[in-house]
Amino acid sequence: MKVTVFGIGYVGLVQAAVMAEVGHDVVCVDVDQTKVDNLKKGIIPIYEPGLTPLVEEHYASGRLQFTTDAKEAVAHGDVQFIAVGTPPDEDGSADLKYVLAVAETIATYMSEPKVIITKSTVPVGTADKVTAKVQQTLQSLNKSLAFDVVSNPEFLKEGAAVNDCMRPDRIVVGTFNERPVDLMRELYEPFNRNHDKMVFMDVRSAELTKYAANCMLATKISFMNEMANLAELLGADIEHVRKGIGSDPRIGYHFIYPGCGYGGSCFPKDVQALIRTSEGEQYQPKILQAVEAVNNQQKYKLPNLVKRHFGEQLAGKTFALWGLSFKPNTDDMREASSRVLIDELTAAGATIKAFDPEAMEETQRIYGVRDDLELVGTKEAALKGADALIICTEWKQFRAPDFDVIKQQLKQAVLFDGRNMFEPQRLSKKGFIYYAIGRGE
Ligand code: UGA
Repeated sequence: MKVTVFGIGYVGLVQAAVMAEVGHDVVCVDVDQTKVDNLKKGIIPIYEPGLTPLVEEHYASGRLQFTTDAKEAVAHGDVQFIAVGTPPDEDGSADLKYVLAVAETIATYMSEPKVIITKSTVPVGTADKVTAKVQQTLQSLNKSLAFDVVSNPEFLKEGAAVNDCMRPDRIVVGTFNERPVDLMRELYEPFNRNHDKMVFMDVRSAELTKYAANCMLATKISFMNEMANLAELLGADIEHVRKGIGSDPRIGYHFIYPGCGYGGSCFPKDVQALIRTSEGEQYQPKILQAVEAVNNQQKYKLPNLVKRHFGEQLAGKTFALWGLSFKPNTDDMREASSRVLIDELTAAGATIKAFDPEAMEETQRIYGVRDDLELVGTKEAALKGADALIICTEWKQFRAPDFDVIKQQLKQAVLFDGRNMFEPQRLSKKGFIYYAIGRGE
């Protein structure tokens, strides 16, 4: 099938590469000429395991093309994915200007019926706005053409995006009527072989499904962070509690890991956007507001522990920081807890020596050159002469560090672990003062 993808960001590029991998003929279009030129040279704008070989292979085979020519792109695809960004407005609601601009572009250039699919995470009601925009544009150009707008939200996780996209656990498709159903089935046929993963519904339900899924996951995390804070006060260990509750299949083991707060481009943005949507309906979403408040507070957990140990004034202190990205296997720093930590500790006068396996360039881009933030090439280099080690992201390579080396290199054996990676008793036997989340000291 001929597929067009508008927006070569995270969602768009992964979707396009995976569609090409299963045999569809894909054209990706973006307004960013440099991005398009780079992709043609095999320079991929994001770090995502498995993505580069897919893009290279299918660009070479011709099944995946990149262009800035919207006219050519619209002419190509029977289906037109809209996968452009929906950045938060000042008030936290999703800004639809890019989505609607693409809708207008499609209507401007289309000369035969098209199925227009919203893939970006968009507020409930967006498919109606896209429909209205296409209709208006067609009318203003005196064109009378049939089209369908479909909501088909994406559920991929950064760091596992290719796999999530290749092996989705569900394919949610919201339609206004039956007309696009067969085409959507055909498009997803290659992903739908063993059992039927397609869930058809009305567009508004599909749009809300995306937000409900992310908000539920964010709720699980904030709930566990609240329990972790409570466990500390009550002298309990949240890790025992986590295993104790996770064994109940109704609760499950997934997404109940306490930590120094959730980040990324999705949870914070989507929770906020659904709060704004609810308020727009004069409904106070008490759970979502609490989820957000608990998370914002949780990001201060590590800096507060550091200040409790070392005092409010940190001038002259140096901290080793392992892990900068909002989670492992990505270089994404958006809403990362490490940023609150860096800001808080440097504001109190501290210097930070930081290492991350992938996010060094991104950190440099965000913070520029600063005396109080040194970016080093290995995790060991961060330790030398530091007053303590702080871990913000649970990268695999931090899981079994040489504690003797850490002890030797640090001025004092103090470890603040924002991801509960180690056993407190073991670390205390090794002579560490070990702070984790919800585990006592
Ligand atoms: C999230 C969802 O998991 C995807 O299903 C969804 O498709 C995606 O958003 C999206 O809307 O595009 P992502 O933001 O890539 O994916 O990252 P997650 O793996 O969900 O992690 C989010 C944050 O939660 C990270 O900061 C992570 O450290 C934190 N987390 C996760 C916890 O603190 N505890 C947990 O138990 C799990």
